[in-house]
Amino acid sequence: MRFLAAGCAIILILGLASCDTLSSEKIYRNGVVVCSDKTAADIGLQVLKDGGNAIDAACATAFALAVTFPQAGNIGGGGFALVYLADSQQVYYIDFRETAPAAASARIYLDDQDEIDRDRALNGPQAAGTPGTVAGLSDLHLRFGSAEWSELIHPARSLADTGFIVGQSLSEALLEEEETLRRFEATEKIFFPGGKSIEPGQRLTQPDLALALSFIEMKGRDGFYLGETADAIAEYCAENGGLITTEDLQNYTTAWRQPVKFRFRQLDIYAASLPSSGGIVMGQILKMLNEYELEKYTADAPEYMHLFAEASRRAYADRAEYLGDPDFTPNLTDQLLDDHYIASRRQSIDPTHASSSTEILPGMPGGSHESDQTTHLVVADADGNVVSLTYTVNSWFGCKAVVPEFGFFLNNEMDDFAIQPNVPNAFGLTGSDANRIEPGKRMLSSMTPTIVLKSGKPYMALGSPGGSKIITAVAQTIINYDIFKMNLTESVTSPRFHHQWLPDKLYLEQGGYDVVTIQKLIGMGYEVIERTPYAEVMALVFSDDGLFITPAADPRRGGGCATGY
Ligand code: GLY
Repeated sequence: MRFLAAGCAIILILGLASCDTLSSEKIYRNGVVVCSDKTAADIGLQVLKDGGNAIDAACATAFALAVTFPQAGNIGGGGFALVYLADSQQVYYIDFRETAPAAASARIYLDDQDEIDRDRALNGPQAAGTPGTVAGLSDLHLRFGSAEWSELIHPARSLADTGFIVGQSLSEALLEEEETLRRFEATEKIFFPGGKSIEPGQRLTQPDLALALSFIEMKGRDGFYLGETADAIAEYCAENGGLITTEDLQNYTTAWRQPVKFRFRQLDIYAASLPSSGGIVMGQILKMLNEYELEKYTADAPEYMHLFAEASRRAYADRAEYLGDPDFTPNLTDQLLDDHYIASRRQSIDPTHASSSTEILPGMPGGSHESDQTTHLVVADADGNVVSLTYTVNSWFGCKAVVPEFGFFLNNEMDDFAIQPNVPNAFGLTGSDANRIEPGKRMLSSMTPTIVLKSGKPYMALGSPGGSKIITAVAQTIINYDIFKMNLTESVTSPRFHHQWLPDKLYLEQGGYDVVTIQKLIGMGYEVIERTPYAEVMALVFSDDGLFITPAADPRRGGGCATGY
């Protein structure tokens, strides 16, 4: 495989591909990339065209997103990825979630009155867990990649060095978070030069980030977890109340785990397992729904929305009580997805009336505030390999502080722990002891990278940002496509609704549902809240013969791009 000299390669890449429009779904034979940003998608596509496989393209896309989509793309965060390998016909799952640094303890974000100090938990380096992204991408590439590692980083490094033209979505995100971002000098220098936010159409260069990427390009994961970059992270943390040390970085490891696997109708669904709650919660919802004749409804039928909401209420109640890092807390995945247990949960659903969340307790004998600002990518190649990868720094731009002279944001993922049991986190989710802070532990996530097989063959791959709402967005997209027979674009763009047990409210996307539907839901007993559109599903599906791939990028956040060749 070969890349042209950096500068030319990027110009050439930009001239080559365009994103699919929503009005005309396209099908491709050789490969597709779907992600939150066109430049990054084009870089992944070029890797495929140059002979790299889906794993190579996913890594290159993820590194490029760290440059062009710094609000969620990252090298200072963490995530999860599923890989379907055509050769072995197996689905593999890698966990590269951040870990709590060794100095972390359960009460670290509580003030003298035992109240959560939300600013400490969200803003500044003390909110950061030990990053996992670089180790995750490196381990993915070592196990399954085919291209030279350096060739996957090089386009991102060049882009950071020579710059790119900022679009609407980055510029708006910077404005939204301006006040907090500008509290951190090194962040302000890059994104608010001369005290002014970068506007659409302006070129953004990130030489410091280019330096960090060049170490990774040359030395692999050691270029991040050892040496100058690691020292800079540790020094910045030590001087500013952060927890991460060079030992934390040196000791960081990814984990290859079994994905959650469950059956829904004719589909075998594989999704992220603990420490993400995504696969378990989605599995509970879809398995509870499996016995209902959903085919007789439409996606906006109050009867269907009610059944989905009640299944969600029960699944999220269990999430709050039982789920945490399986290396620290008992792993109840099998029990929570057990057919008899699911049947008992289903039995308590009244087909015509909403239950109350005060009555629906976690169901086995025996919250937190998650941020919406994550990003997902899917890639498929001509050999039938598929990657579904979600990664994040938690909030937009993570803890808002970049590591000085290395130009990348640290995450604020520590807020995904239940930092005070039963008090909601940034996503309104509550949590229990299972998700309390402990050194070396991974915080519970809702990221739900998913790969769906039908008759043993890839059928669909998808995922989304959206914090706690990721899980219902992914599950509804699968139902839209498989049960309601929408095409993929409709499945992704169709209005969404969400219930997560607590708060006991049914959220509907504004403008997505008519008055009659809303009145019926209120009549069933729901407190209905209309809210702005959420989540950004990135998805692809295969034709029945497996020869063609259709990608779709959710338009909700404005920058998504589906492309292929
Ligand atoms: N930080 C969002 C999540 O992990 O779900």
